[in-house]
Amino acid sequence: MAEFTKFDKVTILGAGVLGSQIAMQAAYHGKEVVAYDPFQEALDKLPRLYNWMRQRYSEDLGDGYDEKRFDEAVARISTSTDLAEAVKEADIVIEAVPENLELKRKVWKEVGENAPETTLFATNTSSLLPSDFADASGYPERVVAIHYANQIWQRNIAEVMGTDKSAPEAVDGAVQYAEETGMVVSRIRKEQPGYFLNSLLIPFLNAAAKLYVNEVGTPQDIDRNWVISTGSPYGPFEIYDLVGFNVAAHISSQNEDADIRRFSELLKESADKGWTGRADGKGFYTYDENGKKTGVVEEWNNFA
Ligand SMILES: NC(=O)c1ccc[n+]([C@@H]2O[C@H](COP(=O)([O-])OP(=O)(O)OC[C@H]3O[C@@H](n4cnc5c(N)ncnc54)[C@H](O)[C@@H]3O)[C@@H](O)[C@H]2O)c1
Repeated sequence: MAEFTKFDKVTILGAGVLGSQIAMQAAYHGKEVVAYDPFQEALDKLPRLYNWMRQRYSEDLGDGYDEKRFDEAVARISTSTDLAEAVKEADIVIEAVPENLELKRKVWKEVGENAPETTLFATNTSSLLPSDFADASGYPERVVAIHYANQIWQRNIAEVMGTDKSAPEAVDGAVQYAEETGMVVSRIRKEQPGYFLNSLLIPFLNAAAKLYVNEVGTPQDIDRNWVISTGSPYGPFEIYDLVGFNVAAHISSQNEDADIRRFSELLKESADKGWTGRADGKGFYTYDENGKKTGVVEEWNNFA
């Protein structure tokens, strides 16, 4: 297989939370970007998202932020509701469509039918495996995962992972692309559900949840132990607040362990009241409008 070494033209599939960020990160690093979404409403939201990202880039990147460079990046992103048109000149296609296997298979089939033979195919899937749908493209040897984290300009890890069908050239190409766009690469050498981060984080968060539902300790005490003992900035319950209760409850609800499912119900009860964590100003802790922690939510600390 030929090497993948030129990544001037980037097509992002799905212009939602992550797709919009992947598009901006690519454009900010000089790439010509096409953002594809079948829904015009999603594309219409992009200018508002760019403004939000402009603010975040300027605050979070400090000296690494350049207003003119950001303006030029915005100008380098075009949009399309036509998939065939969007991928026809792409050097790399990065898919960030909803986490639904049938949908991913359908989208990758269309990409395979319309992209050039030389295009590298990358997916940002979180909970599916790239091998679940790589074959749908017709070119599984060209399919790899580049998994980003939300707020990618700041949390700039790219988890790069192939399947047992990916060509080494495709994995190398994905590493090169990620580095060219300002990412620090975690190279995952075997296909692994949850990549590195969630393979580590989810058992950690589940262990904290079990301590809590079994009334072994309060969130505040468990967090304080972890923070002081390890020097980490956040304890597990502060991480639940950051992740948000809707996402965390969804993941926990599928666990085999009844304690974890019970914890998921508690998160959902809180989310139903509008308290989903830091984004809402209240989770296990309270936060001000800048996301700074202001106090403890005592209900979580009152055991029977
Ligand atoms: N949100 C996160 O924090 C996060 C982090 C890492 C990875 N991911 C992964 O990124 C992917 C997208 O997640 P998201 O949070 O950005 O979702 P999202 O719902 O915010 O965005 C998905 C976008 O895809 C569009 N879409 C719907 N059908 C489509 C189709 N047929 N073709 C192309 N686009 C279509 C939607 O209109 C929407 O704009 C998922 O695979 C998810 O697992 C998300």
